[in-house]
Amino acid sequence: MTYPSAVGPGAIDARRARLIEDARIGLCARVKSIPSAWFYDDRGSGLFDEITRLAEYYPTRTERAILECKAEDIVEVSGADTLVELGSGTSEKTRVLLDAMAAANVLERVILFDIAEDVLRKAACDLHSLYHVEVEAVVGDLRADLDSLGGDGNRLWAFLGSTIGNFTREERGRMLDRFARAMSDGDSLLIGVDLVKDTARLIAAYDDSGGVTAEFNLNILNVLNKEMGGDFDLSKFSHQASWNESESRIEMRLRSLDAQVVSLPEVGLEVSLEGGEEILTEISTKFTADGFSDELRDAGFDVAERWFDDAGDFAVLLARHRGERLGNGSTLPAVLPVAVR
Ligand code: SAH
Ligand code: AVI
Repeated sequence: MTYPSAVGPGAIDARRARLIEDARIGLCARVKSIPSAWFYDDRGSGLFDEITRLAEYYPTRTERAILECKAEDIVEVSGADTLVELGSGTSEKTRVLLDAMAAANVLERVILFDIAEDVLRKAACDLHSLYHVEVEAVVGDLRADLDSLGGDGNRLWAFLGSTIGNFTREERGRMLDRFARAMSDGDSLLIGVDLVKDTARLIAAYDDSGGVTAEFNLNILNVLNKEMGGDFDLSKFSHQASWNESESRIEMRLRSLDAQVVSLPEVGLEVSLEGGEEILTEISTKFTADGFSDELRDAGFDVAERWFDDAGDFAVLLARHRGERLGNGSTLPAVLPVAVR
């Protein structure tokens, strides 16, 4: 195994350029926002990991239980020898699938794709030592980079954790279209989605009593401070989580406690906030299984299987692309490859 080569300055520049562009667009808009992709620096990834173990945060353990029950079927139906994981994070739950592939003696290769380089490198190294197969790690943004994941074979593409819910309907459509274009005919897509449920439970999952989600939310300001020399004072913001019924989503915001001006000198930005003004930091869409199946169909996928936990809190869907790829043919920027073999 060769450990990941250092990501070159080009890759770092590309990530920073994207963050700067997102900050400029989001913080200069009338209604301010920062894309949730930027939560996941080392600390943010660690805080998310803590969230997954909170009593209030049911999605991770529920999805894991479904995978534990259905992993053998998933491996058999997909016929895959390669697992491609999108937004892989620590790839903890993914081990359930990899165990089943290894037990069936079909596991040949793993490809991990995430925007968070540190957590990605660690996950890739961990999986390599556990399964002794080729593991490739690709740093990239799901909103733009997927072209280097093209290739042949029978691959199972896993997009777990309901991360798809962190994108708007329009972004999800574009993303599924991008997946379709990177997938070949024998490939399958396994996707986990969180389902609509009692609002109080949803709010509790995003505003836990221990304040871990609040810390996770506020940490995005640390990322901006670190990456752009900003002077956000975290004590001047509060964490907010609310349910948007018409959009069927949890929305997380940071509320400015007073009127304030924040400087991001390295990118020449001065951001004025009024007392009570909010910055949208995350949407987390909650689906119905039929509604999400329709989204998959609209993107050219046929749903082969849908699995649920007993309480109907979460769904895992297995889909195959119908083969017509009529996307807009846009050219995609190059990804930032980090090979781990
Ligand atoms: N799949 C894991 C991790 C979910 S956390 C699970 O089910 O538990 C969401 C992951 O998606 C993080 O690791 C984050 O870095 C990654 N992510 C979020 N937005 C992204 C984007 N735009 N492009 C690539 N990765 C992204
Ligand atoms: C990664 N994503 C699916 C999580 C979610 O539930 O939307 C991120 C998260 N935000 C707050 N808690 C967890």
